Amino acid sequence: MNKINLELKDQANNYPSLQLSDRNLCDLELIMNKGFNPLKGFMSINDYSSVLKDMRLASGELWPIPITLDVDDQFVLKITGSPKITLRNKEGFVIALLKIEDIWQPNLKLEAQSVYGTIDTKHPGVNYLLKTSKKNYIGGKIEKVLSPHHYDYQDLRHTPDELKSIFRNKKWDKIIAFQTRNPLHKAHFELTMRAMKELSANLLVHPVVGMTKPGDVNHYTRTRCYKHIMNEYPKSSAFLSLLPLAMRMGGPRETLLHAIIRKNYGCTHLIVGRDHAGPGLDSNDKPFYGPYEAQEMLEKYQDELGIKMVPFKFMVFIPKSGKYKAINEIKEGEEYKTLSGTELRQLLDEGKGIPEWFTFKSVAHELEGSNPPLTKRGLTIFFTGLSGSGKSTLANGLVNRLLEEGSRPVTLLDGDIVRTHLSSELGFSKEHRSVNIKRIGYVASEITKNRGVAICAPIAPYHEDRKFNRELISNEGGYIEIFVNTSLKKCEERDSKGLYALAREGKIKEFTGISDPYEEPIDAEIVVNSSGESPEILVEKIYKKIIKMGFIKDKK
Ligand code: PPS
Repeated sequence: MNKINLELKDQANNYPSLQLSDRNLCDLELIMNKGFNPLKGFMSINDYSSVLKDMRLASGELWPIPITLDVDDQFVLKITGSPKITLRNKEGFVIALLKIEDIWQPNLKLEAQSVYGTIDTKHPGVNYLLKTSKKNYIGGKIEKVLSPHHYDYQDLRHTPDELKSIFRNKKWDKIIAFQTRNPLHKAHFELTMRAMKELSANLLVHPVVGMTKPGDVNHYTRTRCYKHIMNEYPKSSAFLSLLPLAMRMGGPRETLLHAIIRKNYGCTHLIVGRDHAGPGLDSNDKPFYGPYEAQEMLEKYQDELGIKMVPFKFMVFIPKSGKYKAINEIKEGEEYKTLSGTELRQLLDEGKGIPEWFTFKSVAHELEGSNPPLTKRGLTIFFTGLSGSGKSTLANGLVNRLLEEGSRPVTLLDGDIVRTHLSSELGFSKEHRSVNIKRIGYVASEITKNRGVAICAPIAPYHEDRKFNRELISNEGGYIEIFVNTSLKKCEERDSKGLYALAREGKIKEFTGISDPYEEPIDAEIVVNSSGESPEILVEKIYKKIIKMGFIKDKK
């Protein structure tokens, strides 16, 4: 039962309110349910500085990653003199009060360097700090009003106390936690079975369902997969519980955090694999951390933390015996098979089906259902270019070509249409253009998620806004940017709406190309120039490229 503290809730309206970000809310849930024990609130400046410098709280206890509440300058002005703030979720429900201890401006680059060992924004943790996090931190103890409500999988969510009591009732005293942000396949099943057998222990499958790495399989699909795989374990040997953690992809330091959390949830062991909580490759295509750095880190601190590491043995499939083996047990010349994440994605993209040696049929079925082949997946085609460059003509031509083809519903979000129906109150300042482009991105991402095609055709002059949309939409399906690279001279000659003339006379301000910048795309999938060829020919060329990229079936 989610009990509410009415006395505290009554105080909530006396204090300024902060709407929590997804990450803040995940962190707050783990602070309140004691998953982040010994933290009692968002870090004060003393704890924060000490974690950065020594990987310890000011009290001396080991703690690897800052857990901080970030707010903007306006909010800092708003809370002057207030002893507390009210923390609310996105729907406005009061979750907690925070007793303000410190407000400060952190050096976010120093934080990135100290915690993640880099300031390269290809690292998701660094990217969050430098691009998303607000510039001030507020530290202070939390007074819980209400646990965040989850509408999904309520029977699979447990507090540490609940989980410990479940373990006690089951009389489990040796519990191995398996941390994951991916679906589980046969190799994971084999290694967890092995770990259980070798240690005569039970298993907690403990996947992260808070925030993971952008591009990961969504947690609904993953949880359906986990539920299937739980049926494969021997009766009463394993238990599934979902963890509302916001991962930072912090490699070695994050591994320590995972160990602390699992200890708090009553586990005695944690499986740690190769490149645990790894953030992928850096800007030079080099791994951020060594493959076994995370294991070395936990090895060093496991006694102090009171939870033991079970090093992950990479399991491979032996076609001859039809069984899995640890890679270090492979005899010379023995044939074995593996399938990388990229290979798996490729099979799904091409609709080829996942082989049975790799995953259970039930899991394959879920993954294939959520990741249809590219020809059936949602898609955004985003035209960008100067006014008069030919975006609308090409977009209209393509809409009709796709409607003729008929595989999916198509929606046109042309610049003028959007400014009439979605953004009529906006002007052309940099700020307003950003809002406009992000609105288009939001609508396109919803269309893409629901497996339609969104064709957008705004000027979208700023790289940052286009990048924002690309990232947002790529999580939901395909994304193709088309740069209509018609020269300013040509656009001005055409001046079909007469706007360039007015802009030259200074009668229209902030006009793109004349008195406002257009940042040319550097990463567009397709570049066309409408001054040389007819729109029909260009639409056909674009259509053929989309076929080549795999999003439309080649019917020839
Ligand atoms: S943006 O920058 O992406 O938000 O612009 P967009 O929403 O595509 O709107 C562009 C259309 O508005 C007309 N218009 C202007 N364009 C650029 N700069 C200024 N100051 C401006 N004022 C009005 C113009 O007709 C654009 O239409 P297109 O279809 O691009 O020619």
